[in-house]
Amino acid sequence: MEPELDEWSELEYANIRKHVGPNRLILSHVHPTLLANLPERIRPENGIVITEKPILDIEGVEKSKVILLDPQATEELVPEDGDNFEYFLFGGILELRVQGFATRHLGPVQMTTDTAVLVSQLVVEGRKRLGELPFVDRPEIKLGKKESVELPFRYIVEDGKPKLPAGLFELLKKSNDVSLI
Ligand SMILES: C[S@@+](CC[C@H](N)C(=O)[O-])C[C@H]1O[C@@H](n2cnc3c(N)ncnc32)[C@H](O)[C@@H]1O
Repeated sequence: MEPELDEWSELEYANIRKHVGPNRLILSHVHPTLLANLPERIRPENGIVITEKPILDIEGVEKSKVILLDPQATEELVPEDGDNFEYFLFGGILELRVQGFATRHLGPVQMTTDTAVLVSQLVVEGRKRLGELPFVDRPEIKLGKKESVELPFRYIVEDGKPKLPAGLFELLKKSNDVSLI
């Protein structure tokens, strides 16, 4: 991970933590500068495991039990993968791709990291197939009477709306207000 975490990523990681439960989100290969300056939401006391170690140096992690989620993989993630794998690896794919992990895709469209985690959880724990899940691509989010922003990713749909991390709408609105000044 980079030495600094932007607020958008912070909200996504907090959203992942909320959905997977305590100590099941591991942030690996964390830059020492970030480790020394963790934002309040992203701390071990909130049930997030945070380490400087790269994934394969973490005790108990066997390479054969790790799947790298990669849009360019040839195989789709399926519920049965939950029976054979224990760790689901997201992000940093340019570096991780060359390390020989098993890989799976979640469809052809790029998702945010938290969406990719939620979708993987619905597949391997919820035993859903990708084709059964409702998605929206590049949703347009209305920020005010005349302003809106298009988010360049695929999201899960919940109650007819894209499922965004708590606080993201407010962050988008704040950034929009600043850019209008
Ligand atoms: C927006 S990227 C993460 C970017 C991250 N900040 C980084 O520096 O690598 C989201 C991650 O979710 C996973 N992901 C997103 N869309 C996916 C898809 N369609 N199939 C498989 N994995 C996907 C990948 O692991 C991808 O790296």
